[in-house]
Amino acid sequence: MKSLFLKIFLWFWTAFAIVAMALVVIVTITRSNTRMQAAVSIYLPFEARQAVDMYEREGKPALQHHFDHLAEEGFAEPYLLDEDWKDVLGRRLPMKAVEFGKSARRDTPLVDKFHGWKVIAAQQIVGDSGRKYTILVIIERPPIVGLVSDLDYRTLLGLLVIYAVGTFSCFWFARHITQPIVKLSEAAGQIADGSLDTRSGQSIRLRRDEIGRLSASFDRMAERIESLVHGQQRLFGDVSHELRSPLARLSVAEGLLRQAPPEEQVEYLDRIALEVDHIDHLIGQLLTLARIDSGADSSRTETLELSSLIQEVAVDGNFEAQAKRCSVKVDFMDICMTSCVREQLRRAIENVVRNAIRHTQPGTDVQIALHKQSALSKAEIHVRDHGPGVSSDHLEKIFFPFYRIPAGKNDATGGAGLGLAITERVIRMHGGKVSAVNAPAGGLIVKLELPLIEGE
Ligand SMILES: Nc1ncnc2c1ncn2[C@@H]1O[C@H](COP(=O)(O)OP(=O)(O)OP(=O)(O)O)[C@@H](O)[C@H]1O
Ligand SMILES: [Mg+2]
Repeated sequence: MKSLFLKIFLWFWTAFAIVAMALVVIVTITRSNTRMQAAVSIYLPFEARQAVDMYEREGKPALQHHFDHLAEEGFAEPYLLDEDWKDVLGRRLPMKAVEFGKSARRDTPLVDKFHGWKVIAAQQIVGDSGRKYTILVIIERPPIVGLVSDLDYRTLLGLLVIYAVGTFSCFWFARHITQPIVKLSEAAGQIADGSLDTRSGQSIRLRRDEIGRLSASFDRMAERIESLVHGQQRLFGDVSHELRSPLARLSVAEGLLRQAPPEEQVEYLDRIALEVDHIDHLIGQLLTLARIDSGADSSRTETLELSSLIQEVAVDGNFEAQAKRCSVKVDFMDICMTSCVREQLRRAIENVVRNAIRHTQPGTDVQIALHKQSALSKAEIHVRDHGPGVSSDHLEKIFFPFYRIPAGKNDATGGAGLGLAITERVIRMHGGKVSAVNAPAGGLIVKLELPLIEGE
């Protein structure tokens, strides 16, 4: 069966039909037993008297004949017991029946259930001879088919209504479960066909059950896929664009090199070397970005004390800064334990520190601080320079890939525009976040937040 709707509908309906049928059978049998017990209570005294009179006056054959006739009519097995608790016709009786017979009273019949659905009834009676007898009747339950055929039209009509309501409910339940799944599957199909902005729809998302949660996860997944695909498309466009300019310059330099006299050729060769360096740097940054995104390094996660790593970066940065008569200073450092991929985190901090060195005014310091925010269970790294800062509308965008402040507002850096994007991804993948603010006294402060190891 290929339709989930049909499967669920049939499961519900079969279960419902079995329960409804079982209920009808139980009610019918119970009703028939009650009726049987009532009938026995009324007719037994009369039958008892008739049986004893017949036995005492006409003897065993007449009684035998009478009992046979009764048995044929109503599934009943009558016995007449004498004072020794023996059947007067000499038939054998189950011990339990005899025990039951012993508790019979003279004036009213005693009726009870016997071996499941059978009914047993007994009554004492004294014959004209003064002898004491006990009449015992074991009545078989009529067969179920017989019971069902006994149902009156009102019961049958009720049954029909119950089945109609039950069928409708099963249909409604099956639809209630399968319809959102059908919608989700259509939405998945549309995403597969390229409509990445497709979502599961309000009606499913508002459900509070597992399907509602599935739809919320589906929408989150769709959003993520959409942003990833668009991000990749944008990155792909940016990469092509970024590669085109140095390649164009390379091509021009190569053309000029061919025509230039030997003494001018060095200039063009230098230009070619510069452009090759630029492309190499760009490709190196792109590979780093791709590696971070792929999560390939996540198995190298280790527990690390941040201050030692920052000290290392600061020492290297300080060496680089000397060329600009600047220095990199560590102002303040708490002890912060974090879980990270060391190389990635080092590169993330280094990118920020190198930017700061590049942009800080000659003769000024780049300051680094590491604060432990125990209440928020995070570590904050602040890198501050004394450069021109970044105007407020660019503060968030500098973390986008290939985003560089438009020329004129800032010095041309010659960078690929990927350093801060790499930093942002590394920090995000470590569960933290990045931000940048302008210091009131000038210069840029880049903040990197990282979660501390639990219990720190
Ligand atoms: N400390 C800073 N002061 C002023 N502007 C900055 C600072 N840091 C970054 N920027 C601006 O943000 C832009 C993006 O920085 P990012 O590090 O991503 O790229 P990049 O330094 O140009 O190139 P790359 O780091 O890939 O070599 C820079 O081009 C620069 O304009
Ligand atoms: Mg940079």
